[in-house]
Amino acid sequence: MIPEDGLSEEEVMGELEKRLSLDLTFDSGKILGSMCTYPHPLAQKIVRKYMDRNLGDPGLHVGSQKIEREAIQMLGELLHLKKAHGNIVSGGTEANILAVRAFRNVSDVEEPELILPKSAHFSFLKASDLLKVKLVWAKLNKDYSVNVNDVESKISDNTIGIVGIAGTTGLGVVDDIPSLSDLALDYGIPLHVDAAFGGFVIPFAKVLGYELPDFDFKLKGVQSITIDPHKMGMAPIPAGGILFRKKKFVDSISIPAPYLAGGKVSHPMITGTRPGASAIAVWALLKHLGFNGYKEVVREAMENALWFAEQIRALKGIYLIREPMLNIVSFGAKNLKTIERALKDRGWGISAHRGYIRIVMMPHVRREHLEAFLEDLREILATL
Ligand SMILES: Cc1ncc(COP(=O)(O)O)c(C=O)c1O
Repeated sequence: MIPEDGLSEEEVMGELEKRLSLDLTFDSGKILGSMCTYPHPLAQKIVRKYMDRNLGDPGLHVGSQKIEREAIQMLGELLHLKKAHGNIVSGGTEANILAVRAFRNVSDVEEPELILPKSAHFSFLKASDLLKVKLVWAKLNKDYSVNVNDVESKISDNTIGIVGIAGTTGLGVVDDIPSLSDLALDYGIPLHVDAAFGGFVIPFAKVLGYELPDFDFKLKGVQSITIDPHKMGMAPIPAGGILFRKKKFVDSISIPAPYLAGGKVSHPMITGTRPGASAIAVWALLKHLGFNGYKEVVREAMENALWFAEQIRALKGIYLIREPMLNIVSFGAKNLKTIERALKDRGWGISAHRGYIRIVMMPHVRREHLEAFLEDLREILATL
């Protein structure tokens, strides 16, 4: 109910404090099953200072627009692309929808089909529904990466694109993107890589010595990449990223926005009004942390993942789904639902789905949180 007369600021804040105490917070260390994290302190400052900047009307906020372009160029550099086209968008969902939309728009196929791994994120279901693109699901191998032969067998005259995943949502698996890229080149079909999660992990993990396949624009068949700063990039929500190799993809999804106060522009995204602060924060974090800053974040996350996997392996009654490739560890159990319920009762922010519980080693997850979690897990297992 809207009150007739407004409440005082203290009353409103007090009421909010009470109600929002229901929320789990990232800084509590209890959220182990999310790909989001507590935004970096610099990002918080930036949001407070620049929350009025609207990139939907870039003619008014020319400085913000330049910053966004530079942020995209820096992400391009990280992903081995000299000149990147794209935007900071609302998240991985919007980025994936934009890629599908671009692939559909540059093709002249009447009944468009997209081939994607069974492990793909549900954002592609939204893309399919919105864009009337049929999804053709490719099988997975035993190690949960996409089966490239099955992808090839599903290519038809209606195929407008192929999707590969660099860091699957459930298990953090990186598909064999080099082989998908070869396939894409052989058949003249664009390849989109969903690196919403892995984009801010793989480049650093490789330098740290982890053996991971190439996944980015180094591979000539890769035409677009989703990379989300609001996941492992520690940017504030919302901050997703979509990068295209060629301008023609962006042109194909650009809609004229004629009446803006800052003058006529084109919008190659789903949203109209959108937060400049997000793009500014991405720029600032890339500049502030630099390659080595992110490398250290990934070092800790990967070390936590390997350590945690080792601990899980030692426990009776649960099992690792697969060796972690990135900083995600997922385990299964016969009594998974009971275990999930007991963990939730103890306040842990996790969920069981597709037959496993996944623990994502985000920057807010510290060794002591994992130790406390394991202690609870051991106690629960002992009662089963
Ligand atoms: C691989 C992958 N792609 C896309 C998304 C969607 O991102 P968002 O929730 O930012 O829209 C996710 C989210 O977890 C993801 O794991």
